[in-house]
Amino acid sequence: FFQSPFMQEKSAGELNSSEQGQSILDIQPIDAGSRPTKQFELTAKETDWEIQTGESVNAWTYNGTVPGEALRVQQGDFVQVELHNELEVPVTIHWHGVILPNRMDGVPGVTQDAVEPGESFTYEFIAEDAGTYWYHSHQHSSLQVDKGLYGPLVVEEKGEKPEHDEVFILDEWAVNQDRENWTNMGGMMMGSMQGDGEADTKEMYDTFTVNGKAGDAIDPLRMEEGETARLRFVNAGYQLHRLVFPEGSMEMLAVDAEPVQSSGERNVLEIAPGERIDVLYTKGKDDEIIGEMPSVENSQDMQIPVLSSDSSGENLQVTGKDPATSKGTSYASKDLLFDTVPDVDVSYDMNLSMGMNMGEGMIWQINDRVFPETPPIQVEKGDIVKVDITNEGRLNHPMHLHGHRFQVEAEDGGAVVKDLINVKPGESYTIYFEADNKGEWLFHCHDNNHADRGMVTIVDYT
Ligand code: C2O
Ligand code: CU
Repeated sequence: FFQSPFMQEKSAGELNSSEQGQSILDIQPIDAGSRPTKQFELTAKETDWEIQTGESVNAWTYNGTVPGEALRVQQGDFVQVELHNELEVPVTIHWHGVILPNRMDGVPGVTQDAVEPGESFTYEFIAEDAGTYWYHSHQHSSLQVDKGLYGPLVVEEKGEKPEHDEVFILDEWAVNQDRENWTNMGGMMMGSMQGDGEADTKEMYDTFTVNGKAGDAIDPLRMEEGETARLRFVNAGYQLHRLVFPEGSMEMLAVDAEPVQSSGERNVLEIAPGERIDVLYTKGKDDEIIGEMPSVENSQDMQIPVLSSDSSGENLQVTGKDPATSKGTSYASKDLLFDTVPDVDVSYDMNLSMGMNMGEGMIWQINDRVFPETPPIQVEKGDIVKVDITNEGRLNHPMHLHGHRFQVEAEDGGAVVKDLINVKPGESYTIYFEADNKGEWLFHCHDNNHADRGMVTIVDYT
């Protein structure tokens, strides 16, 4: 069929010449200078993971838990992470959202060889920008991320902090179905397209988790009335979720690690696959719930109780409102990449669509091609790049760019700096970025089922 960079298992020495060409730049060790060093070890291994009381799944984990060990560092730290692979399949770690040298990006067959069973690899980077990130395997992602190979990475900023600071990683599982089977069936399952734009995967997953736990097993947030918390949400799954807060309790802080300013009152936020949203939450008088819309199927599984020390735990209320009636608001990044529409050196039209491949079922295309036949975005260092993305299909495509941040012009004239943009059916966005980080960088749909079946291209520096 085709070779996805999520699937490739090139052995040492097989990386192509352009990667070797850039090694003069890349082979130098990262200069940590006098920065504090933070070291971690992550072991990929099989684990029986109790997803809810009395119900376990066969998971693949970093250090035995889902999500994997929470990595917290300070802005400016030099980070070293040793990956050991105790699984029977090759793995990697991709540092989602972190701007780092290309050879540390964790994409098998593109930036490194996958780490084989029994082997190790050390990742190193400088945590330049504060914010919420996450890490996950980029080897056969649709399977490996699904099975639990992900975890949070928080780069704390200097200065004053709220009383609480918590990460919530959202995900969905197919507890009652045979996941391997879907992989084999591939496009057939993807082919069931009744209903709206999220229909493709919805029917395959039956259990929704927050930090690896479902339903009553979800860890409550414990804080007292009037206390504040920085809540960092990460969507590690393949479905769009709605975060619902008690009215007036929350203020947006950052999206994809970029500080934002929001205007107006808002209590419902959408979070796309791969996206991160940070909010400042203030606990009200009663016990509260933060969760997905009650109208969404299985939303019971997605509620985070916020309890105070004297909680009986009985008078919990769902305070979310229908997004249709929630007051509209918008947000803009505090620091823009470009103050005005920049002069562009490279323009690229990206059309996202679905296709059929004889005998293989559904494929996901960029400009009518599947990776690696998709046309690359060819740049030179220093270029200002414009990409017009249009979704001609019927499903959401959360498009994620590695190694860079881009600026999206928002409808109301403001602009947002991100590394992932969810392009809904029929939507178009124009994004701008500066090609300032040499290497080969993936630009792909973060519904990894789509990426593994073609919706990937590469920003390629000549
Ligand atoms: Cu979360 Cu290619 O990335
Ligand atoms: Cu997609």
